Amino acid sequence: MSNLSTNHLLGIKYITKADIELILDTATSFKEVLNRPIKKVPSLRDLTIANLFFENSTRTKLSFELAQKRLSADIVNFSASGSSVKKGETLVDTVNNILAMKVDMVVMRHSSPGAAVFLAKKVNAKIINAGDGAHEHPTQALLDAFSIREKLGSLKGKKIAIIGDILHSRVALSNIFLLKKVGAEVKVCGPATLIPKYITSLGVEVETNMKKVLDWCDVANMLRIQLERQDIKFFPSLREYSLLYGLNKEILEGLSKKIIVMHPGPINRGVEITSEVADHSQSIILEQVENGVAVRMAAMFLLAGRNYAD
Ligand code: CP
Repeated sequence: MSNLSTNHLLGIKYITKADIELILDTATSFKEVLNRPIKKVPSLRDLTIANLFFENSTRTKLSFELAQKRLSADIVNFSASGSSVKKGETLVDTVNNILAMKVDMVVMRHSSPGAAVFLAKKVNAKIINAGDGAHEHPTQALLDAFSIREKLGSLKGKKIAIIGDILHSRVALSNIFLLKKVGAEVKVCGPATLIPKYITSLGVEVETNMKKVLDWCDVANMLRIQLERQDIKFFPSLREYSLLYGLNKEILEGLSKKIIVMHPGPINRGVEITSEVADHSQSIILEQVENGVAVRMAAMFLLAGRNYAD
């Protein structure tokens, strides 16, 4: 297969296994480009891309921007703070004004779940969801999958534990959709209050004992507690959370096999993982960030209708 089945990247839920494999394979080629002395290709020099960030971001925003520059696209960057959104302009009006300046593709992060799907129905441009509330973060799941595949050779049959604040995590949901589509086994782990009731309907198992899930898995994806999305208390204190669900060096090195530790960032050192684990030889956190650029290059390149074999 040489083309994506979709015009937009709104969530992993909306793409096929073949789309996922095409993006990951294309990203492998772009990773090779990124390791050359000249890291730039002219592939998207005819394209203008707008990066619309209505919510804070470090990794995703910089990674998309760098990926666009490596593909020679023209880019415009928009942050809600300092814009006319503060004067009451709607999302559709904001985007239509940007599109009137002849923009071909929009990368958007927004705090409202469904914002990217909504936008794709309203405006005439290719839309990439860079995170919409607690809904989906498709490029994070793709870069996570790319990083696991690079380390373990394949995804099928691999045992992935997703540990932490599952309830508020778009990373968890996109990872679950992706990992199930490619045949990996997934268990989620965290306090019962932070695991949504519907999660087993997605084909994952729930385990509230972190030691048990660590003994089972090949990869532990440690998630941040998203205090900014919690309007009530879901656990007594961060100290208690960290005692039960924090990964430290003693636990990691006491396991019977060497597992891979992942984290989408931003890390709260000392809460979900200690500094020693974040910087451990089994941690691939910075490799995830590195791979994000190649994966985002691949996603934008393919959505623009290009093919690496051309
Ligand atoms: N992983 C991730 O989405 O990080 P940012 O919020 O910094 O973009």
